[in-house]
Amino acid sequence: MRTGEALLEVENLTVSFSTNRGLHAAVRGLSFSLDEGEILGIVGESGSGKSVSTQAIPSLLPKNALVSGSARYRGKELLGQSVSFLREYRGKKIGMIFQEPGRSYDPLQNMESVFFETFRNSDRSITKDLSREKAAVLLSETGLERGKERLSNFPHQFSGGQLQRIGIALALAQGCELLIADEPTTALDVTIQKQIVALLRKLRETRNISIIFISHDINLVAEIAGRILVMYGGLIMEAGKSAMFAEGAVHPYSKALLAASPRFGSHYSRERLRTIPGRVTDPAQAEPGCPFAPRCAEASDECRKGVPPLVPLDGEGRKARCVRIQWR
Ligand SMILES: Nc1ncnc2c1ncn2[C@@H]1O[C@H](COP(=O)(O)OP(=O)(O)O)[C@@H](O)[C@H]1O
Ligand SMILES: [Mg+2]
Repeated sequence: MRTGEALLEVENLTVSFSTNRGLHAAVRGLSFSLDEGEILGIVGESGSGKSVSTQAIPSLLPKNALVSGSARYRGKELLGQSVSFLREYRGKKIGMIFQEPGRSYDPLQNMESVFFETFRNSDRSITKDLSREKAAVLLSETGLERGKERLSNFPHQFSGGQLQRIGIALALAQGCELLIADEPTTALDVTIQKQIVALLRKLRETRNISIIFISHDINLVAEIAGRILVMYGGLIMEAGKSAMFAEGAVHPYSKALLAASPRFGSHYSRERLRTIPGRVTDPAQAEPGCPFAPRCAEASDECRKGVPPLVPLDGEGRKARCVRIQWR
């Protein structure tokens, strides 16, 4: 592979769900790319389309999802491929961790057996002893204390943060190159959140893995990602380097997210959180214009006419989708 080549290129991804209330547009033409060793953040409120757009990439969506567009992984198209083609990617080159790690484990299977099964997927001849050794090395890399001893434990004997470390170790055991981390720290308290973020950053440094880090908390995303996509109503509303967001967002939606987000580490401050007025738009009844217009304090009639284009604002990849913001 050429250096500088994108690991993942998503182009005009759309996902609609056929429901008994009609067609439900969840993702409406999403394009982004991810370089090797890059951490990309996706942020937006619940229902913005963050999970659906990333689950579409390894074809993990349910059958009622209609997907179009393109997702090329090292130049190979993943969308519309057979299960056997995707076997190499799903859960292997592309690993995933989620908000509630406990759910993905069989409560009756201890970790030793989980790792053994995982290693056996790619090496049928691996022995239990070698599996234990390899698991212990990975668990020490992901910071699980007394990892080797704890292999005999069952899922309920671990905390949420420990289960996330185990989930990351299992992704690495399967040769993960791209980790999709979908709200991996949302259920954890702030101290553990920080530790998991530090672990993911370390793995980027030591293993050069690429990460898509999804969260509703824009400050947390800015803490870990180099670049951020802000999503709302299945659309990218603003995109740019994290440093730009730290200096201040340009889109009214991103500004509202920043105002509503607790500062990283100031979880226990008495500062009252500001919440964004209005409700997340129901995609089954999408407005013709900007999806944020009904909640936007700066909206005018023009905003309700059509979906504004995502326009570049500078030569450094900053983009925004808002009629009030123009190339500077
Ligand atoms: N299986 C499904 N059937 C119908 N609609 C769905 C399904 N999964 C997700 N959606 C809808 O797609 C939209 C985007 O969902 P999602 O990507 O999960 O949001 P986020 O991860 O940003 O919270 C939401 O409106 C959600 O209700
Ligand atoms: Mg989600």
